[in-house]
Amino acid sequence: MARVTEQELTDQVLARFAAAPDERLRAVMQALVRHLHAFTREVRLADAEWLAAVRFLTATGKACDGARQEVILLSDVLGLSSLVDLVNHARDDENLTETTILGPFYVPGSPWREFGSSMVEYADGGEPAVIRGSVRGVDGTPIEAAVLDVWQNAATGYYAVQQPGVQPATNLRGRYRTGPDGRYELRTIRPVPYPVPDDGPVGELLRATGRHPWRAAHLHAIVSADGHLPVVTHLFDAASDHLDSDAVFGVKASLVREFTPGPDGVLECEHDLVLHPAG
Ligand code: BEZ
Ligand code: FE
Repeated sequence: MARVTEQELTDQVLARFAAAPDERLRAVMQALVRHLHAFTREVRLADAEWLAAVRFLTATGKACDGARQEVILLSDVLGLSSLVDLVNHARDDENLTETTILGPFYVPGSPWREFGSSMVEYADGGEPAVIRGSVRGVDGTPIEAAVLDVWQNAATGYYAVQQPGVQPATNLRGRYRTGPDGRYELRTIRPVPYPVPDDGPVGELLRATGRHPWRAAHLHAIVSADGHLPVVTHLFDAASDHLDSDAVFGVKASLVREFTPGPDGVLECEHDLVLHPAG
């Protein structure tokens, strides 16, 4: 019997998946095999490198627990999470608010807060800021009672969920509704850049490859309204470091805004949002 070639081996594996009853699973697995085999041939993957990859993936899985998702973090720093977001949510209409990844620090059920009220429950020296704007449909119609579910980090760089017992659990989180004119307004502090958790295998990977772990300063928001598609998005501070090298490839130019001092010296930021109709 002739010795099997690299291509014949790839073809054998592809054929082994050919009878998968679920058409989508078959297509995905065969594409995965094609790309993995092509990658292995391209880099001429050494035995020791394959073993190092197995050890790395094992450690990444073991680093996960109820509070930490190291596998998603790996996907984030590889740009995979942002690519999945683009593949699923990018739209041609330039006016629509762009989507971003959710990130690990979203906690559902944030407190409802009044128009213009503050979501700061713990003073740690952040710069006070007001963020306001409108939520509209693609035709420009203001959307009343749209909900902005907002969360951000404290001036120390940590989200409340990362510091139980230090920050109140609902610090810098809140759900705001737009008024009849589609406007929203919230008081907060200016967000600061912060490193993604880098004390695990993904942090080792970043260091080994000369990459930094920093995210550009941002707020997160999930914006929803009846009859419209919800948007998971960010608002980035135009003055932040790392806008060009965000560790998880989340920055989109359309989401970058200036924070400028208002008449009373408090920082102000205007950010309008546009939602796509559902269905
Ligand atoms: C965040 O923006 O909260 C985040 C996103 C990805 C990894 C870590 C943090
Ligand atoms: Fe974040």
